[in-house]
Amino acid sequence: MSHHSVVNNSVVVNNRAVVHLRNGGTSVLVDTSGPALPVIVHWGADLGSPDAADLDAIVLATLPQRVSGGLDVPARLGLLPQETTGWQGTPGLTGSRAGRFFSPALLTTAIEHTGDTLTVHATDDINRLALRIDLAVDAAGVLSSSLTLTNTGDDDYDLVDLCVTLPLPASATEILDTTGRHLRERSPQRHAFTQGRHQRDSRKGRPGADATLLLAAGTPGFGFESGLVHAAHLAFSGNHRLAAEKLVTGSAFLQAGELLAAGEIRLAPGAGYSTPTVIASWGDGLNELSARIHTRLRSRDVHPRTPRPVTLNTWEAVYFDHDLGRLTALAQAAARVGVERYVLDDGWFHGRRDDTAGLGDWVVDADVWPDGLGPLIDTVTGLGMQFGLWVEPEMVNPDSDLARAHPDWLLQAAERLPVEGRQQQVLDLSHPDAYAYILESLDALLVEYPIDYLKWDHNRDLVDAGSTRTGTAAVHENVVALYALLDELKARHPGLEIESCASGGARVDLGILDHTDRIWTSDCIDPIERLTIQKYTGLLVPYELMGAHISGPESHSTGRRHDLSLRAGVALFGHLGIEWDISALSAADEAELISWIDLYEANRALFHTGTSVHVDHPDPAVDLRGVVAADQSEAMFVFSLVASSAAYPVGPLRFTGLADDTRYSVRLVNREHTGVGNGQSPLVWAERPLTLTGRALRTIGLQGPVLFPEHLAVFQITSA
Ligand code: DGJ
Repeated sequence: MSHHSVVNNSVVVNNRAVVHLRNGGTSVLVDTSGPALPVIVHWGADLGSPDAADLDAIVLATLPQRVSGGLDVPARLGLLPQETTGWQGTPGLTGSRAGRFFSPALLTTAIEHTGDTLTVHATDDINRLALRIDLAVDAAGVLSSSLTLTNTGDDDYDLVDLCVTLPLPASATEILDTTGRHLRERSPQRHAFTQGRHQRDSRKGRPGADATLLLAAGTPGFGFESGLVHAAHLAFSGNHRLAAEKLVTGSAFLQAGELLAAGEIRLAPGAGYSTPTVIASWGDGLNELSARIHTRLRSRDVHPRTPRPVTLNTWEAVYFDHDLGRLTALAQAAARVGVERYVLDDGWFHGRRDDTAGLGDWVVDADVWPDGLGPLIDTVTGLGMQFGLWVEPEMVNPDSDLARAHPDWLLQAAERLPVEGRQQQVLDLSHPDAYAYILESLDALLVEYPIDYLKWDHNRDLVDAGSTRTGTAAVHENVVALYALLDELKARHPGLEIESCASGGARVDLGILDHTDRIWTSDCIDPIERLTIQKYTGLLVPYELMGAHISGPESHSTGRRHDLSLRAGVALFGHLGIEWDISALSAADEAELISWIDLYEANRALFHTGTSVHVDHPDPAVDLRGVVAADQSEAMFVFSLVASSAAYPVGPLRFTGLADDTRYSVRLVNREHTGVGNGQSPLVWAERPLTLTGRALRTIGLQGPVLFPEHLAVFQITSA
């Protein structure tokens, strides 16, 4: 039975109106029986292979009923909700032609359905707009979508808002998203999902430390191991908006798009605008939801596949004290403990003696480095390590030759400079001359020196970010230019890796990660803080893309002191590095550091290809996380006691993600760091050869070792 009243210019949709995108354990059912824009009837669990009649029945079963006091035609949530359909929630498109033509009425003109992708073409002849909607479900079961709007009229169209809209099931009654601040990024927050709108805006020109990494909605109390949950992420590094909304009609949905400033996108006749891609996932628990996203990322051509080198970053070791002798001693110590990449941080370029000057002048400082960077790089590469260099290309100190020569290259509004942040202003990369200057400055460094890696920093939020050429807001154009710049440098220097850093973790998104190789997760390396930061960053970012460094004994950002076992055990869950002056360690400390680096190297393939899991433990003092090999043959888990526990001992620890019917042996890797003195008996299971099935480990678990607070235990789990 065909429901098509629309013109289908391209692929015929199997002669029926319901499109079933089915891939990676996810089904998305789309009712395309126009001319109204298509409606997602289901997004989530795999529906198997329903036939056409089944699909029609599902659609009919979901059609809403007219109610008293309402409009005569009950509105459905279209792929782009519009007021013309009677929709009374937030629309998917807002814009006008100088105030007129404010209510779009887009109707479907063509549907293309190939495999797991659906493209919808729509036009609006009165408002003179054309829309393309792209929807796809990949092999990981991740739903992605973007929209492209084109002005088909002969005057300008001012775009205010264009958002991807995805439905949520009625069972979603609780919201989880992330907020945060410098040194505490991706801090989770939860609340009830009631009628109304929960909207998170970023107006910082970068996602920000408080960015909504994911906006998730699910069943009450959904956790990592269970509870139906759906979430969306916007793959973009500028201003953005994510929202969850619930109407009196019961309709609940997620919306995501770029947050545009007034006049930022004015579409000239014939011009178009594409939204960033929205990445959406679901799962029975957050572990499943995240695993889909991680699998998607790992299938990208640009995904780093070489072993992630143990890194030493000089920042917390020497800060601005760029002394060749000191940095050479650090390099020698790094090589001794097994470091594979040495990164020279801030302070090497012209005039940069502290954080008040120099940004913009990307030449080596002749006073501090009279012979250039060559002598240090020769030492580093001679010791068998890669060399990396810190840069902050989008930033300019007013006290710099660049700012003095080109004041018009700085982002600003109405001919006044924005409030400074860290004594710096922001370069307008959308200015062709500024772009060319930065490209050639960085290229010259990469040509002169064997630099394998750039740590690309960005240390202030943007405000008043306008272009002097156009007088309009320019965040969008700057993100576009940044991505082009990163790609151009990588094209010119094959093999170059780039880390995205922004005051620590203020630019963490899947837009930047399509152009870079890892993120600096946070400037806070205190392992207790890092447990939460890495757990929630990991909702989106797999460990191989997440910088995790071992700090010195005292955290520079919290003042807390921790044993090396905690600092190192937490850094295993990431791309491991060291940020600590290790040039004068005691022999015992050096030996212990080497043993942790050996453990990382022996297991990095597991951490960087396996499935990340978190166990929902009822005790807030217990953090239990692990990585399970894709074939479930092995796993590594870490139990951290983050505070003193009310229970003593803490009781059984369950291990999730293993194969139910496989027998595993469990080894306590760091027994020497467990126990609290002489008061406890040996842990029975650890004293003898013992195997347990994955089912027993998942449902019953085993007794966790007694630990001092702020200590951890590492478990190596191997199929017997
Ligand atoms: C902020 C970064 O997050 C730090 O790691 C360090 O690179 C400083 N900037 C340098 O200024």
